Amino acid sequence: MPLPKQFEGRMLLPVVCAPMFIISSPELVVAQCTSGFVGTIPSLNIRPQEQLEETLGGIREKIDAYAESHPGAKVAPFGVNLIVHRTNARVEHDLDVCVRQQVPLIITSLGARGDIVERVHDYGGLVFHDVTNLRHARKAISQGVDGIVLVANGAGGHAGATNPIALVRELRAEFDGTILLSGAIADGAGILSALAMGADMAYIGSRFIAVTEANAPPDYKQMIIDGGAADIIYTSAGTGVPANYLRQSFERQGIDPTKLEHRDSTTMDFGGGSSKRKAWRDIWGCGQGIGVVKDQPSMRDLAERLRRQFEEARQDFERRVAASI
Ligand SMILES: Cc1cc2nc3c(=O)[nH]c(=O)nc-3n(C[C@H](O)[C@H](O)[C@H](O)COP(=O)(O)O)c2cc1C
Repeated sequence: MPLPKQFEGRMLLPVVCAPMFIISSPELVVAQCTSGFVGTIPSLNIRPQEQLEETLGGIREKIDAYAESHPGAKVAPFGVNLIVHRTNARVEHDLDVCVRQQVPLIITSLGARGDIVERVHDYGGLVFHDVTNLRHARKAISQGVDGIVLVANGAGGHAGATNPIALVRELRAEFDGTILLSGAIADGAGILSALAMGADMAYIGSRFIAVTEANAPPDYKQMIIDGGAADIIYTSAGTGVPANYLRQSFERQGIDPTKLEHRDSTTMDFGGGSSKRKAWRDIWGCGQGIGVVKDQPSMRDLAERLRRQFEEARQDFERRVAASI
């Protein structure tokens, strides 16, 4: 399956920048799209909800203005993440705004709904749904989504526990829509490996926390630059759903990460804007792929670097394949 036709000719690499609570700012989304990657933002990052319409309109205007003043540049469309959970009181409002604004891509999390797919398809938009297992993927496919984001083990934020190869190979055999793979992809070789497995696009979060435009405090960015896979803790203690966090961010709050308590998923609550806002503000979400993150570039410089790394990885891969068979 190729890229969705709405993305064709507009991408520097087949990359969707994952929506990240608090981190994804309008500025980051514009920088991502104007660098040739699909940029996305959780609707809950815009508060109060009355600001959403103006903010989305502003994002679109800036992306369009860049495209107009840079003919020939790769300028990708943007997306909005809707948390479709019974405790998210904003979901209907935010959906109405996205439909009015004709947001090119909607990424739904925690609930796949056919009526959302229908409304977005009506104006020519796309719907991707993120899942951690095949059971939820099948349910979303039956609701008509265009793409499935497989959140494999090692991903930042709420993450699955299943191996990425297992997820992609199993889904590829039964789905010819767009498959996006997420979890610890942070450089050009990682993007290439997602394609080699059979995914159509890479879905990348944590790498983009350590860029200048990301809305994260300097200590958070530095922790990512200094950290590696061994610094990531998988726990349900934050929100009730298992998620990956930086170990040092627990320690910084005086919490012993070896003594975290298991929390039940029924405690998940998006009423305050996201499931336990404090869990994300003070305890820092992050995936296992940060061992290759060594600096904090601008989004544009990083995009160009990823493109170079991707080409190098491709040539190296072809050489090694040729030498091994
Ligand atoms: C700090 C942080 C916040 C996140 N917030 C959201 C969110 O609000 N909605 C969502 O669907 N996914 C969220 N995610 C998950 C990402 O969208 C994505 O699945 C994940 O970051 C991919 O793995 P990676 O970080 O290893 O690249 C978050 C991830 C991180 C690291």
